[in-house]
Amino acid sequence: MGYYFAKFESFGSFAPKKILTNQDLEKIVDTTDEWIRTRTGMVERHIASPEEAASDLAYQAAINAIEASKVRYKEIEMIIVATISPDHPFPSTSCIVQKKLGLKNIPAFDISAGCTGFIYACDIGRQYIENGTVNNILIIGVEVLTKITNWNDRNTCVLFGDASGACVMSRAEPSDISRIIDSKIDADGSQGEFLIQAAGGSRLPASAETVAANQHTVYMEGNRIFKNAVKSMYASSDELLRRNNLSGVDIDWIIPHQANMRIIEALAEKMRVPMSKVIVNIHKYGNTSSATIPLALDESIRSKKIRRGDIILLTSFGAGLTWGSILARY
Ligand SMILES: CC(C)(COP(=O)(O)OP(=O)(O)OC[C@H]1O[C@@H](n2cnc3c(N)ncnc32)[C@H](O)[C@@H]1OP(=O)(O)O)[C@@H](O)C(=O)NCCC(=O)NCCS
Repeated sequence: MGYYFAKFESFGSFAPKKILTNQDLEKIVDTTDEWIRTRTGMVERHIASPEEAASDLAYQAAINAIEASKVRYKEIEMIIVATISPDHPFPSTSCIVQKKLGLKNIPAFDISAGCTGFIYACDIGRQYIENGTVNNILIIGVEVLTKITNWNDRNTCVLFGDASGACVMSRAEPSDISRIIDSKIDADGSQGEFLIQAAGGSRLPASAETVAANQHTVYMEGNRIFKNAVKSMYASSDELLRRNNLSGVDIDWIIPHQANMRIIEALAEKMRVPMSKVIVNIHKYGNTSSATIPLALDESIRSKKIRRGDIILLTSFGAGLTWGSILARY
């Protein structure tokens, strides 16, 4: 525990204009609207245009989050971007966002934790606030996975969409009811090969062969990941609740990673939380990886579903494998 508490001050999000429906996908690969709906819960997803990269989406969500806060642009003291689909391998997308926002002389860095990226970034961010180093951090989860999708692979191409979600995390005043209560992040690198973009790094540098073999696109063994998803999200959520003497009944809202409706329902059942307390928007966006949680939070706060003082539990899992949860009073 640090000297101070951190809180979620505000959220913002953004999704590209273009929408790809299940019916559109039927024309691209051997799939059906019925298979996608029943196996995943997805109906449509947003797709970035050729001109839109991660930093463009991130910038829009950042503006929306800052404008929704009491924090002025020059009071942002750190930028953390969670992404596995950055503009470039380097420089970091966070530095590009910093430039777009016109902010100078503050640290900016990316973190790679797959779909758990936003949870990892918030867990890191809260340490800086709780130990008194900074007061306000801009944290963004952004993904343009459709740019690294194999559009011939029906196992993966129906699943992903593009979006961004951001929050301003600030130091909580003693009078604030809002605060991050606890968080936990975890990983198991032994299963990394089940969800991977194999080429483009130092293991398999880009070559004509890697392009021909589609090794720059997402490879996923979905059913192996599926089994781990429920187990790992439940484990970290349950530990957070236990060590804070809470149980499922104390939670106002669970905001789970939106990878598959069946995973979300299985998690809710295991946690004994009714689906009426679970935030779901997978039908509109598909799996937007590190953006799903801040995007869902932003929508639910703007529609006044989630209100100040509500106890919220955020939980995710993804490539790495990684997983983690955050317990907060919004
Ligand atoms: C990907 C996922 C939806 C697949 O569902 P599943 O029930 O596990 O399905 P399987 O992979 O076992 O495939 C079942 C069958 O459907 C077929 N299938 C796969 N994708 C299909 C599609 N888009 N349309 C029609 N059929 C499809 C498979 O070829 C397979 O056919 P077979 O039985 O003839 O071999 C599911 O495994 C999942 O959501 N996994 C987790 C994904 C995830 O969360 N990733 C990490 C976070 S980013």
